[in-house]
Amino acid sequence: MKRPLKVIVVGSGVAGMAFAHRLSTLMKKGDVEIHMLSKAPPETSNSHAAQGGVAAVIDPADSWEQHRDDTLAVGAGRCDPEVVERVVREGPACIRELLAIGARFDTDAQGHLDAAHEGGHRTPRVVHHSDHTGAELVRVLQGQVKGTAHITVTETLFALDLLVTDGPDGRRCNGVRTIDIRTGAIREHFSDAVVLATGGAGQVYRHTTNPIGATGSGVAMAVRAGVPLRDMAFVQFHPTALYDPQRKGAFLISEAVRGAGAVLLRPDGTRLMEGLHPMADLAPRNVVARAIHTVMREQRVPHVRLDATRIGAVRFAREFPMIMKHCMGTGLDPTKEPIPVMPAAHYLCGGIRTDAQGRTLLNGLYALGECAGSGLHGADRLASNSLLEALVIPRYAASSVMTSERNAPIPEDVEVGRSSFADEDPAVIAALGELRDLMMDRVGIVRDDAGLQVASSSIARIQQFVVDQWAGGGHSMDLYELRDLVLVAQAICEQAIAEPFSAGAHWNRDRQTRASTGNGGPDTSGSSRSIMHHEALK
Ligand code: SIN
Repeated sequence: MKRPLKVIVVGSGVAGMAFAHRLSTLMKKGDVEIHMLSKAPPETSNSHAAQGGVAAVIDPADSWEQHRDDTLAVGAGRCDPEVVERVVREGPACIRELLAIGARFDTDAQGHLDAAHEGGHRTPRVVHHSDHTGAELVRVLQGQVKGTAHITVTETLFALDLLVTDGPDGRRCNGVRTIDIRTGAIREHFSDAVVLATGGAGQVYRHTTNPIGATGSGVAMAVRAGVPLRDMAFVQFHPTALYDPQRKGAFLISEAVRGAGAVLLRPDGTRLMEGLHPMADLAPRNVVARAIHTVMREQRVPHVRLDATRIGAVRFAREFPMIMKHCMGTGLDPTKEPIPVMPAAHYLCGGIRTDAQGRTLLNGLYALGECAGSGLHGADRLASNSLLEALVIPRYAASSVMTSERNAPIPEDVEVGRSSFADEDPAVIAALGELRDLMMDRVGIVRDDAGLQVASSSIARIQQFVVDQWAGGGHSMDLYELRDLVLVAQAICEQAIAEPFSAGAHWNRDRQTRASTGNGGPDTSGSSRSIMHHEALK
């Protein structure tokens, strides 16, 4: 009799849970064991924080072809068209399946699904649960996962490294090494397939909308195992994080607020996006973020303003209750006065290179969601395509994992050491701070060749610091995270240096866009639609 297939999923956000749920419906108990390992519960994930929603074609006047074209346009010629087509075509089916398992999405007075409008979309297309759609998806998927006997969930394991063996068929991933954040026990867990769904890496930047756990562990583990990445230069900055004078956080003000009619204002009260792009406040995010960055730099102001008063108090409170509550908690009433906003690092468009089934270039290893570079997003991500990706690609990954070979016997999980966590180390905290400032200043919204070179040398120095600290033993939690973040920073910086053109979220003022070279490159509408503001935004 065949032993059960053993699959490890690292991460507990929407992509990981969607995968586990799908596989558990394809294979019955006794045929598969799915072990979900994460360092924290799903409520702390980037998915849970997602406000906007799931981009999907639900209006008969809309079409998957238009969704595809908007995705390709914002991706500025760098998307994989096959992946784009596959993902956007499945949007409606995903929404139907979510409804079938109990997801609650907003509806209009006739009971039809309500679609919000966000940047880069030519039409309202974002299915949502008021302004906390991610939390709703986590709720509904968590219910499925926790109610399934052949899925186990452990939420105290920080993944350290992939286990890789050399076999007759080449290198293969056969498990992960973790550290238990309560006890310090270091364990090796073996499996037939490993699925990385570790989320984003926004914590590599000083200002980010991401939660504290977004430290790029999956990407870093892939780098250490020699697994190729792609599109790492493309880090999306969300145009509107609430400005916090204490600089303690960057609470997201959803783009759906602009979709409902809010507009960005310069310090003198004039419209910021008017005349800069045909889609104005709903231009692709890289365009809007760069426009705000330019105003902030030129006018030496720490923020611009978002005027949502035109939405009306009743509608604002109904559609954006969480944003309302947060703003009011900081003494700002968005229904009465324009609120201060600034761009903040939001989404890693690239990641661990995968195909449309989530397969990486290492046998046995899959990557899903934000840690993956599937080619869907290209040089910039169309708003709310990330939750869609996190729901669609896991379906294909589950079908692929199902057919995994299970020839070799799998060793039992084993404890291989124990580490007591060292206290906070001021030198490590200072290095983390330096890395985040460096990334913000030199590898942020607008880059240049000299700045990228400075960043590259500084990152190499911080990398050496990490190596020295690591050799010294007694690792603090900050050191574990810095070890990952510095590799993510290095990958972003190296790929930014290697990019010959500016495109989408990678804007190097020393490099032209492919469109502006006139060399017959692809229609980079994220850029070409914005051609009129290129000079203004450099
Ligand atoms: C937002 O609500 O503005 C964020 C949604 C997304 O990142 O796609």
